[in-house]
Amino acid sequence: MGGIRPLVDHYGATYGEFSSQLYADVRREAFGEDIGQTGWLTSDEQDLLISWLELEAGSRLLDVACGSGGPTLRVAFKTGCSVTGVDLHHEGVSAARDQAKAQGLEDRASFMQGDASQRMQFEDASFDALICVDAINHLPDRERVLREWHRLLKPGGRLVFTDPITVTGPINDEEMRIRSSIGFFLFVPRGVNEALLEKAGFRVREVADRTDNMSRMARRWWEARESRADDLRGVEGTETFEGQQIFFEVAARLAEERRLSRFAFASEVA
Ligand SMILES: C[S@@+](CC[C@H](N)C(=O)[O-])C[C@H]1O[C@@H](n2cnc3c(N)ncnc32)[C@H](O)[C@@H]1O
Repeated sequence: MGGIRPLVDHYGATYGEFSSQLYADVRREAFGEDIGQTGWLTSDEQDLLISWLELEAGSRLLDVACGSGGPTLRVAFKTGCSVTGVDLHHEGVSAARDQAKAQGLEDRASFMQGDASQRMQFEDASFDALICVDAINHLPDRERVLREWHRLLKPGGRLVFTDPITVTGPINDEEMRIRSSIGFFLFVPRGVNEALLEKAGFRVREVADRTDNMSRMARRWWEARESRADDLRGVEGTETFEGQQIFFEVAARLAEERRLSRFAFASEVA
């Protein structure tokens, strides 16, 4: 991520042990339903995002920064579409491939390692829809990223993404440092996404405030991990465990106080 090493290896710790019982138990307790998510997505929220994507059997979906691929495969299962997932993290992609095989979805699901902040290897107009959940904040140049997504979509193609790093109140340096301690983070004020979407050639159809999901999930994730602190310390080491707990605590507080908000956007190629 921009060549800068994260202070807390959140994704490394998460994906390294993704399929273990301990981590599945944490996700189940935090999210209610374990769909293999790594951000603030819940299954009911994903159903809303799926409805915005307007997919059918035969449609092609690109999931940018797909993580472990659990949510990507759920879209393939629910809609009958074909999915391609890209993530920077090798262990996330590897977990995604294992899951596709385990769920018998290999013929409609492929996963590859790649850096979504760069031009991607796909031809122009390769996809009917593109989704990116809780990851656009890790990509440095928002305008360039949106133009690249526009290139990858067919005319009329749908783009759905969440931005969990929208500044909607005062945040001090310590809070900002901890909230971004897991890698590269782009903080943007409200309105920037809408303006850049239009500039990149999209028509904005929906903007929904989904901060509640982030505040609830961050708090519940912290609690689920805290109640298994000894086991998690054994797997992650004390420094990583405590760094992650502080990250979740600050993420929960900033969202509860509506100082950092999370918005979901649905748009289409104009
Ligand atoms: C909060 S997780 C969300 C994962 C998944 N979308 C989900 O909802 O479960 C953010 C993901 O962004 C990925 N990521 C960060 N920088 C990236 C980049 N430059 N290119 C591709 N993926 C990236 C991380 O590896 C991580 O899997």
